[in-house]
Amino acid sequence: MSNIFEEDKKYVLNVYRRDKLKITEGRGSYLYDEDGNKYLDMYSGIAVNNLGLSNPEVLSRIASQASKFIHLSNYFVSEPTVKLAKLLVESSFASKVFFTNSGAEANEAAIKLARKFGKELNRNKIEILTAYNSFHGRTCGSLTLTGQKKYQNDFQPLLSGVGHFIFNDIISLREKVNENTCAVFLEMIQGEGGIKEATQEFIDTLVELANKYNFLIIVDEIQTGLGRVGDLFAYEKYEFTPHIVTLAKSLGGGIPLGAMLVNEQISEVLQHGDHGSTFGGNSLACAAGEYILATVNKNGFKKEVKNKSRYIFNKVYELRGKFPKIIKEVRGRGLMIGIDVGDYAKEIKTKGIERKLLLNITNKTVVRLLPALTISFGEIDEFLSKFKLILQDINE
Ligand SMILES: Cc1ncc(COP(=O)(O)O)c(C=O)c1O
Repeated sequence: MSNIFEEDKKYVLNVYRRDKLKITEGRGSYLYDEDGNKYLDMYSGIAVNNLGLSNPEVLSRIASQASKFIHLSNYFVSEPTVKLAKLLVESSFASKVFFTNSGAEANEAAIKLARKFGKELNRNKIEILTAYNSFHGRTCGSLTLTGQKKYQNDFQPLLSGVGHFIFNDIISLREKVNENTCAVFLEMIQGEGGIKEATQEFIDTLVELANKYNFLIIVDEIQTGLGRVGDLFAYEKYEFTPHIVTLAKSLGGGIPLGAMLVNEQISEVLQHGDHGSTFGGNSLACAAGEYILATVNKNGFKKEVKNKSRYIFNKVYELRGKFPKIIKEVRGRGLMIGIDVGDYAKEIKTKGIERKLLLNITNKTVVRLLPALTISFGEIDEFLSKFKLILQDINE
């Protein structure tokens, strides 16, 4: 009998570290393995399956669209694509949308738009800035934005004209921007960087500098967007409006889909032939996306995310009180929560699998919770009681 793990190693390029679980099915907040074991999934495909796995309405939208056509070339307009673009515009600051297949590609599109925007104003206005410890993707352009040497070192030289500032450090930001800056990319909460949130003071300074030097503020909401933090977008809390927002992850309901939302001022910068993608705005993905966005927009949905968030935070703070040696800090917003457990992270993840609890670790020390936004209070209690048992185990 062939072994899927051996064949994976043999035939698939070895860039991922796999968990030794053979998942055969997913329903709601649970994944099932080939032996019928049921695992509570606390990171939903890294913030992709936001309405739970195998959501019946998502399946039905996909099936209905697939029965008409799966793909049309971008020589034709496609109804689901236009409908999703319209809904994104009506739900946000944006005036127009460009669709991609991933987060990295959405950021690539934003890099191109920012460069053209800058060059049209001044030949040298091509400098892009992002934060150290950020994550914006792994294609060469987006990897240049990603301010982490560990991802970049083996792939130099990367894109020129990209600099980095220290996240939440006003002095560092002021030192780096000037009249040649065309854009600053920022995550409102650094996700891969360990769930670290931008301060109001930092954003106020960024907005002040953007007005002074006329550069674009590009907010990467690929992980934080679409209801994850209890608002449609994480930037809303700071009371400013970005020029561009990039999205992906949950947007296509599990089908690859990304988007770049742009405001009216810059909606004509990219013209015919300036950019494109064979699959970008794929009809199947957009049909799912329309349902995802409409659901998050529904009355009460985001409020419920906030209620669940408050409940988890309170309980995890209690656990921090009981296990101060293990839990160093709890950070985040909505259902994007980081529990810093220092060197215990790996052990906690392993013990989680033994207890049929799937946990994600980011930035080496942080248990990152990104459950389905549809997780029930009962399922949250299941997580909390299993997590407590793991902490007790380690504490003994
Ligand atoms: C904030 C952020 N930006 C960009 C990306 C890249 O997205 P993708 O993996 O779809 O290219 C990610 C992925 O984790 C992300 O979290």
